[in-house]
Amino acid sequence: MGKDIYKNITVKPIAGSLGAEILDVDLKNLNEETFNEIYSAFVDHQVIFFREQSLTSDEYLAFGKRWGKIHHYPYMKGLDSHPEILEILKTENDTYAFGNVWHSDGSFTEIPPKATMLYALELPIAGGDTLFSNMYEAYNTLSDGMKKTLLSTRGLNVGDQPLASFSGAKSMNQKDPGKTQVRTYHPAIRTHPDSKKKSLYVGGHTIELESFTKDESVPILNYLKTHAIIPEFTCRFRWREGSIAIWDNRCTQHYAIDDYAGHRRRMHRITIMGEESPY
Ligand code: SIN
Repeated sequence: MGKDIYKNITVKPIAGSLGAEILDVDLKNLNEETFNEIYSAFVDHQVIFFREQSLTSDEYLAFGKRWGKIHHYPYMKGLDSHPEILEILKTENDTYAFGNVWHSDGSFTEIPPKATMLYALELPIAGGDTLFSNMYEAYNTLSDGMKKTLLSTRGLNVGDQPLASFSGAKSMNQKDPGKTQVRTYHPAIRTHPDSKKKSLYVGGHTIELESFTKDESVPILNYLKTHAIIPEFTCRFRWREGSIAIWDNRCTQHYAIDDYAGHRRRMHRITIMGEESPY
């Protein structure tokens, strides 16, 4: 950490475990070399942040498409003008904050998103930060016995659990609430295709371990979910309007803090498809 291996960007870590701000970059004007360095910083730091960006939805989407194909969220519709962009909106009257549980986006889909980008448009005066946790560290710090057990099992990841709570997300644009069921088994430990490192792939959407009884898997999963988010593995991002975060769903989890009741927060999210099922 701290060694500057980048020629076109300045990378400033924001915590000891993961997360870095990329300084002095205008995402509207990126040549190939700078984009490749940003991608390297994303792989190295797992979540990267940009400040003071000013992008139209067309420009934001064009930037998103440089990362890969767009992943569509199964439960909510995107903007009418840009269906690939999901508006995450909590108004003064809403009671449900989208993403207010530790999770890796779309882990319940067959090919989960590799990356998510979030662009802050309107924020409460205080609060509404997002936490991130490092799933390489979560894996590395498990005992050899637990690693061995988890390496030979898969987790059942379920996306339909929060649907009941979506009734509190009145300002978001739901697709067939309650009808879409997405459940998928993925390895409990996955290997990152770029870094080749192993990470824990058990999060808020994981409800069972394959070939374990429910009575056996629930306490193991509870342990893993608590272990995965110890403060030393985390960083916290304080948003400003115009900030953009891009996180790697293959090696992180995140949590949207809901501490701004009675205030408004509006973000635009683009998720980028993975290139393969987790392995
Ligand atoms: C999400 O989980 O995608 C939303 C995170 C946030 O709003 O901070």
